Amino acid sequence: MALEYSQESRKALDSMRAEYPELRSILIPALKLAMKDHGSLTKESIELAADEAGVSGAVAAGVATFYHNLHTGTIGKHLIMICTTISCQLAGATDVVSRFEELLGITIGETTDDGLISLLAVECLACCGNSPAVQVDYDYFESFQPEQCEAVVESLRAGRHPEGGAGVPGGDPDREAEVGA
Ligand code: FES
Repeated sequence: MALEYSQESRKALDSMRAEYPELRSILIPALKLAMKDHGSLTKESIELAADEAGVSGAVAAGVATFYHNLHTGTIGKHLIMICTTISCQLAGATDVVSRFEELLGITIGETTDDGLISLLAVECLACCGNSPAVQVDYDYFESFQPEQCEAVVESLRAGRHPEGGAGVPGGDPDREAEVGA
């Protein structure tokens, strides 16, 4: 059976259509909503977004694999992304990665057995001046230290947003609801 958007996403996309003079401009929101509705961007959910935006599956796949906020692999309910590009490496990103791996019992690229948390290494998060940078779902954390990892993991396990982060511009406005606190 062909994938569909949830009712909520369908409504959001229909109202967005009126705001975009070019239909293809709706592609990134369509991909984000497909990912939200179906857990990750599979070939089928990318096709769903492509149809919505009136572009080919190849164009949609190119966009889906370019941005680090779009995920083509299986991801957990929450996503911890650690910048491992040079500024953050020099400021201690490796120690942050090690601490998260130790606390979660997984390595970079894996998801906890309960499907709750995935750990990813990503390229520059544009916080180089205050590295190391970490993104937890739609929150940025700058000058992040290994000592902060435990509080982040505890918060996510308790269904709360970790304290101290700044919202990502254009992040999901429904993120409070997503955590299900
Ligand atoms: S190098 Fe890590 S935020 Fe730029």
